[in-house]
Amino acid sequence: MCGIVGAVAQREVSAILLEGLHRLEYRGYDSAGMAVISESGANDCRKRVGKVAELQRALESQPLPGHTGVAHTRWATHGEPSERNAHPHLSGKLSLVHNGIIENHETLRKKLTALGYQFVSATDTETIVHLIHHHYKQQRNLLGAVKLAVQELEGAYGMAVIHADEPDKLVCAREGSPLVIGVGIGENFIASDQLALRQVTDRFVYLEEGDIAEICTGHYRIWDINDVPTQREIQRIDTVAESADKGSYRHYMLKEIYEQPHVVKRTLSGRLSGGKILAEIMGSKANDIFKSVSSVQIVACGTSYHAGMVAKYWIEGIAGVPCRVEVASEFRYRKFKVQDNTLFVTISQSGETADTLAALRLAKTLGYSASLAVCNVAQSSLVRESDLYLMTEAGPEIGVASTKAFTTQLVALLLLTVALGRYHDLDEQQEANIVQGLHGLPELMHETLALDPAIKLMSEAFADKHHALFLGRGAQWPVAMEGALKLKEISYIHAESYPAGELKHGPLALVDSNMPVVAIAPNDELLEKLKSNLQEVQARGGQLFVFCDKSAGFSAAPGLDLIALPHVSDIIAPILYTLPLQLLSYHVAILKGTDVDQPRNLAKSVTVE
Ligand code: G6P
Repeated sequence: MCGIVGAVAQREVSAILLEGLHRLEYRGYDSAGMAVISESGANDCRKRVGKVAELQRALESQPLPGHTGVAHTRWATHGEPSERNAHPHLSGKLSLVHNGIIENHETLRKKLTALGYQFVSATDTETIVHLIHHHYKQQRNLLGAVKLAVQELEGAYGMAVIHADEPDKLVCAREGSPLVIGVGIGENFIASDQLALRQVTDRFVYLEEGDIAEICTGHYRIWDINDVPTQREIQRIDTVAESADKGSYRHYMLKEIYEQPHVVKRTLSGRLSGGKILAEIMGSKANDIFKSVSSVQIVACGTSYHAGMVAKYWIEGIAGVPCRVEVASEFRYRKFKVQDNTLFVTISQSGETADTLAALRLAKTLGYSASLAVCNVAQSSLVRESDLYLMTEAGPEIGVASTKAFTTQLVALLLLTVALGRYHDLDEQQEANIVQGLHGLPELMHETLALDPAIKLMSEAFADKHHALFLGRGAQWPVAMEGALKLKEISYIHAESYPAGELKHGPLALVDSNMPVVAIAPNDELLEKLKSNLQEVQARGGQLFVFCDKSAGFSAAPGLDLIALPHVSDIIAPILYTLPLQLLSYHVAILKGTDVDQPRNLAKSVTVE
């Protein structure tokens, strides 16, 4: 999704802004632009469709010298990807970048057109810059003009704006779209994600909803939603601990797949003690809340939703607590009854996904007993607005297709299952068994990743196919869903997942030698039933690719390709069986030559509805 970087410094800022845009590339975008106030007081701007590298080339031939500037990567919502729709948008001496969606843009466009403004783009954003311009005419002051303009905006925005007559200043505002100030020495920055500013500072101030800030070289000032001057805590982020480069890997996705044993260990670290899980890790009120919980509602999007689907099997099957799971965009717009003592759980890598955040805000008005966020970003809105939270310790995930965030979410959700189960169906011995299984997981992950060469070989059978089917039963069904999603996202092969028992109710009609069928077959109580389902595929000439437990009794045969995983307990199995499916998609995408880390049309963090 769109990214913002801004800088007010005593040195040239265009290289800083460009580096920031590069660091935001992983979020997905289709055009990029930059505006800088020049020495002569002009407001100079460059924009390009395509990658940040295109903008970089434009800047090499036509540099933008100056000490104050804003830059942006745009992911098109209103208006096609084009230079005229790319940000910054200009009005007189103003340049503005914006993330989010202005819902009343049509009304504003009419009003501003009547006032004589001419629109050059099809974007909602252009209304903001003209509106600020309109107020500037009376105010003669950028901060005052922004404060008046935001009162007329409906919708979501994170925005940053500069004016050539106030060359040492940037004004930014946040409502529904994240913004962070990067605090420097004699220079200050802003960005939609602190990752963009890691090269210039490790000190950050997170703006809250409704905040407006004025950024200058030597200071910054913040006003809250009621226009009261306010201080927000400076947080120091350890840059070494959260390395965000590719290292020796060809892609971030591959690096992140291989990081899983390490980040799972980190997610468990300090959370287990003597065969027990420490519920306090979810907050000091956690035990009191869990004691009275009698059902769970999980809400999430994308891969995080699949983690929620696995958790449903655990929370009902292990903890004995009724659990419902729903995608956030459906949950928000549906009527339903909230049962007493229901814990509302959100799952999100970024903690900024618009639908998940809106679902949490809605839930708070509906009488849920408490909210808990499972999230990877400590400073995110989701974490800040939830009663309890459980951090996944995946570190920055750059590949758009989620991998390590998913497996660490599963680990966190298993911890939650146990913490809840204590007050319901789980006894001490079962808890100790789960803890033992979790301790052994990183090593099993290493062994599974060692199967990579065999998985790479298997991927060759997929590269020329147009469709694929993924089958699993029980908690492996959501794992199959996640496997199909990975293949779709990065190789652009149409893939569907089914609970294997549903095969004969429709999808079997699709099975022929051109339809690879992937099956997940741990040695669990559903294995024999799964085997019967797979025979239905073989009998129709389907090509089977089975990831099975080494003791599951399969043998390779024509039409049946096998990869045997180490033995793992039924409870832990969904986490382990995710890994070969990630590797399979990765290798298929490599063979197809797609943009693995930034697949077309997708964004890492979806901050608009
Ligand atoms: C986007 C990403 C997915 C992610 C989903 C939810 O679609 O491309 O990888 O699963 O958003 O994101 P969240 O940050 O809430 O987990």
